[in-house]
Amino acid sequence: MKMPDSFLWGGATAANQCEGAYLEDGRGLSTVDVVPYGPDRMKVARGVMKMLECDSEHTYPAHEAIDMYHHYKEDIAMFAEMGFKVYRLSISWTRILPHGDDDVPNEAGIQFYSDLFDECLKHGIEPLVTICHFDTPIDLINRYGGWKDRRMVDAFVKYCTVLFERFGSKVKYWLTFNEINMLLHMPFMGAGILFEDGENEEQIKYQAAHHELLASAKAVSLAHRMMPEAKLGCMLAAGQFYPYSCSPTDVYKAMECDRDNYFFIDVQVRGEYPVWAFKRMEKAGVKIRMDPGDAEILKEGTVDFVSFSYYSSRCISSDPEVIKNKSRGNAVISAVVNPYLESSEWGWQIDPLGLRVTLNMLYDRYQKPLFIVENGLGAVDRVEEDGSIHDLYRISYMREHIKAMLSAVNEDGIPLMGYTCWGCIDLVSASTGEMKKRYGMIYVDKQDDGSGDLKRIRKDSFYWYKKVIETGGEDL
Ligand code: BG6
Repeated sequence: MKMPDSFLWGGATAANQCEGAYLEDGRGLSTVDVVPYGPDRMKVARGVMKMLECDSEHTYPAHEAIDMYHHYKEDIAMFAEMGFKVYRLSISWTRILPHGDDDVPNEAGIQFYSDLFDECLKHGIEPLVTICHFDTPIDLINRYGGWKDRRMVDAFVKYCTVLFERFGSKVKYWLTFNEINMLLHMPFMGAGILFEDGENEEQIKYQAAHHELLASAKAVSLAHRMMPEAKLGCMLAAGQFYPYSCSPTDVYKAMECDRDNYFFIDVQVRGEYPVWAFKRMEKAGVKIRMDPGDAEILKEGTVDFVSFSYYSSRCISSDPEVIKNKSRGNAVISAVVNPYLESSEWGWQIDPLGLRVTLNMLYDRYQKPLFIVENGLGAVDRVEEDGSIHDLYRISYMREHIKAMLSAVNEDGIPLMGYTCWGCIDLVSASTGEMKKRYGMIYVDKQDDGSGDLKRIRKDSFYWYKKVIETGGEDL
């Protein structure tokens, strides 16, 4: 089995996890810059510990990351050597608009991305751009409280207008928000939300969700007007919820968890809230404030394709005893350990068939072209004395997932646009802030204590993925 020649093979990164240079050339601060390394990281990411600036008690590896800001030419040349057809990256909002809604954009930031896109195109690599990957400008949080506030919608549209004007001729594929559903699990990281004592957290989160959905819809409509050739996608942290047992209450619970997950994408694809959503919100004491005209905005701004990250399926139970055994995968708080699956060193469970299940479920639900924009294994790599890195565990993870993808396309008929594996070059982990948790096929000599000379080294998976792309997935 193989993929058609038009299939977009490649890799994915996010600005804050690889660029570094966090204050260089006029860049402003954003949420991801103040989320520290270490035990406080998730407290800050979830919005329960307030941190709007950096302090000397914490460290912030993403400030320097792998310094792609200064190494991008070398890195893109290596992507080209692997045969990438597409490179997914995100634009750092505060490199373009340092305060989030400046009237005049930061030309140095524009120049950086313009050069980077030219470099991709020079190598025949199509850029796929995430407009917002977990980065809300700190200045907008200070002024508005982040996505809680409707004024964020206008700020986002202002930012998108600059991007479409300045990069519209170079970029065809765009995603509005990375893993938009993560707003429910990491409200600060996903939407710049900090909770005040006594606030109804569900109310705040769903109101912010409404604002992000409006902003996404407006951006899609704007892009369609300004760049008629462009394709706009939404982006979901996917992974089907399995019932822990065949007890009807477990099955029902799994369906509810899936609905919570699909909620955002339902709106972005269909242009309206699903019928169950208002009832669910009512039960949780949530009432979304909507303005006249919002329904039309959502209806007009529906996406062209559905992209998603897939690391694992999730498992859920209604039994209070079973739910004590929580899984550590991908920031979803409610999931429990699935006894049928192996886990990575970070407790993320490994389920290649779950990718085929997810692809089928998403297509059954939306009938839109799909795009796998993240998938991969975070692991510790060892550099041998001769400088080689034998990451067979990563090859095995990717091989099984690509096999599942090939079956979904060739045996189930799923229309799939491409596959970009996550962290094609080592970068800082979003959930832990570590460098030690590596996803790349390119190793970067940068360690958690800040040491390392940033040298890039090809791992065994580099040569393996090159062969996979060359053969359209036939030689695995
Ligand atoms: C996704 C994010 O949730 O998972 C990425 O979009 C992130 O930003 C990736 O890096 C892997 O997660 P982690 O925590 O292992 O870096």
